[in-house]
Amino acid sequence: MEFRLTQESGRTYFIRTVEVREHDPRLIKTISEIDLMTFSQPTWSHVTLDLTLRHGRTTLLYADDLAIGSCHCVRSWDNPDEAVLFAMAIRPGWRGRGLGSRFLQGVLDGLARDGLRSVILQVDANNKAAVRIYQSRFGFEILADEVDARGERRIHMRRVLRATAANDTLGELSAG
Ligand SMILES: CC(C)(COP(=O)(O)OP(=O)(O)OC[C@H]1O[C@@H](n2cnc3c(N)ncnc32)[C@H](O)[C@@H]1OP(=O)(O)O)[C@@H](O)C(=O)NCCC(=O)NCCS
Repeated sequence: MEFRLTQESGRTYFIRTVEVREHDPRLIKTISEIDLMTFSQPTWSHVTLDLTLRHGRTTLLYADDLAIGSCHCVRSWDNPDEAVLFAMAIRPGWRGRGLGSRFLQGVLDGLARDGLRSVILQVDANNKAAVRIYQSRFGFEILADEVDARGERRIHMRRVLRATAANDTLGELSAG
C-alpha cells in the first residue's frame, strides 16, 4: 500500500507499508520508540520484540524514510487461519489524518494475501479512536466485553478477511 500525503504546508510525503520479512535488529529500537510514545505500559522487552520480529508478522508504516507506525500479528494457536493483531500504533504527530485507517487496511490486505481468514484483537474500551477505527470503519464484531485483571474494560473483536489484489495503491491524501 502506497500513496502520497500532502500536508497543509504543501510538503508531500511518500507513505507506504512494509512487511518485515527479514530480521533486522535495528528495528527493535525504532519499534520500541513508537511503542513507548504510545502506550502507558511498554508492550515489549528486547526478547519479546526480537521473537515477534522473527516469527510473527510486523508491518511498518513509513513516511519517506521515517517509520511512523507499527503493527504486529501472530497466528492463533487454536485457529491457525486466524491472526491476532496487537500494538498497532501511529506516532503521535501523525495521528488523526486518516493514516491509521489506511495502515490497518494495508495490514489486513497483507494477512488476506497470506491466506489468513480472520483476525482478532483486544482494545481498551475507553480508546475511542481505536474502537471507532476497528468497529465502525472496518466492521470488526464484538466477541466479548470483559474487565481484565487490572480492572480495565477490554473489548475483544473479530473480523473475517477477504482476499484482495496485491500491491493495492490508494489515491492521494491531503491533511493538515
Ligand atoms: C488508533 C490509531 C492507530 C488510529 O490512527 P489514526 O491515524 O489516528 O486514525 P485515523 O486518522 O485513520 O482515524 C480513524 C478513525 O478514528 C477517529 N478518531 C481519530 N482520533 C480520534 C479521537 N481522538 N477520538 C475519537 N475518534 C478519533 C477518526 O475520526 C476516524 O474515524 P472516521 O473514519 O469515522 O472519520 C492511533 O490513534 C494510535 O496510534 N493510537 C494509540 C495506539 C492505539 O490506541 N492503538 C490501537 C489499540 S492496539
